[in-house]
Amino acid sequence: MADKDKMSIQDILAACRGDGGGTPDATKANDESSGAEAAKPAATPAKPAGQAKPAGQMSVEDILAAARGDASASPDAGQEASTSKPAAPSKKPGEMSVSDILAAARGDGGGAAKPAASAKKAAPKPAAAAGDKAAPKASTPARTGPMDTSSILAAARGGAKPGPISRAEAAAQGKPTAPKLTAPPMPQKPAYASPKAKPSKAAETRRGFFSVFLGSFLAVGFTTLSLTNLLWVLGLARFFFPNILIEPPSRFKVGFPSDFPPGAVATKFKAQFGVWVTNVEWDGQRQLVALKTVCTHLGCTPNWLEAEQKFKCPCHGSGFYIDGVNFEGPAPRPLERYAIRVADDGQLEIDKSKTFQQELGQWSDTACYVPV
Ligand code: FES
Repeated sequence: MADKDKMSIQDILAACRGDGGGTPDATKANDESSGAEAAKPAATPAKPAGQAKPAGQMSVEDILAAARGDASASPDAGQEASTSKPAAPSKKPGEMSVSDILAAARGDGGGAAKPAASAKKAAPKPAAAAGDKAAPKASTPARTGPMDTSSILAAARGGAKPGPISRAEAAAQGKPTAPKLTAPPMPQKPAYASPKAKPSKAAETRRGFFSVFLGSFLAVGFTTLSLTNLLWVLGLARFFFPNILIEPPSRFKVGFPSDFPPGAVATKFKAQFGVWVTNVEWDGQRQLVALKTVCTHLGCTPNWLEAEQKFKCPCHGSGFYIDGVNFEGPAPRPLERYAIRVADDGQLEIDKSKTFQQELGQWSDTACYVPV
């Protein structure tokens, strides 16, 4: 048994295949053979002449071909392979990664680390194996760039739809679906938000104070405004009516002459018409006269004093007799008379539009008395 440290790659591979070509003697014989002999095919296909290369001069393809036991490791075969397959970069055993070595050992020469070798696999084989499973894959365009994860997973699933699937699709496929989301229950209302909660005594008092304070101010303001507007409306409406002084008629009837006996003073017309009707004796003649109830001093209204048989002014004390002549006080002249006459119906009719003054000598006018 040769020493393990001194075994070449051929010896190791031959030992792996279980033939005797891997003996140290054979290796030595191969090592001693010339380069021309290496190009010739060996007696057994498992030991091509190319294996006669020194271990340090063998490429990876040579080593792997020797491991597979085919003759493609020979330089000629290598040239043929180079015509049908894209040239894979020759690496030394020390430069190859584990994936490279494994891919080469599987004979596909592919792997993610060798895009050129994968192209070699995709390009020449579709024509040769038309009915093969690889044929449809050859129709797909070869990707030159790196594949994304979804594409890799889709390819692994054999064309299934990549990415997440809907709930209906999951149900159709019999896959378990996520439980339906339900809204969480609403939180409970706090105690202060409950309609049954009553405000505190202080809050009620404060609220009542502000409501009364502001409410009273607002009430007063709005009430004043409303009253002002009402007065303005009433004042405006007043201008739609003329200024009319409603006075009793100046001419009126007081009754028949027999209703006024001598020495009597009728005061019932004083308030309504401002007239006293008296039956007096003037210039030796009994007359019915109508005296004006206005004091000749400053215009006050005297009163008839039945007991004293005189007109007495309450303002300054002027006194007048029953016939109207002044006799005391500041009054400068006698009372005035109105026009009086007997109407068509026999009643006495007084006309206040006409006055007669004694100092002017007008009492002698027959229009100011009715003889009895
Ligand atoms: Fe009658 Fe002066 S007004 S006395």
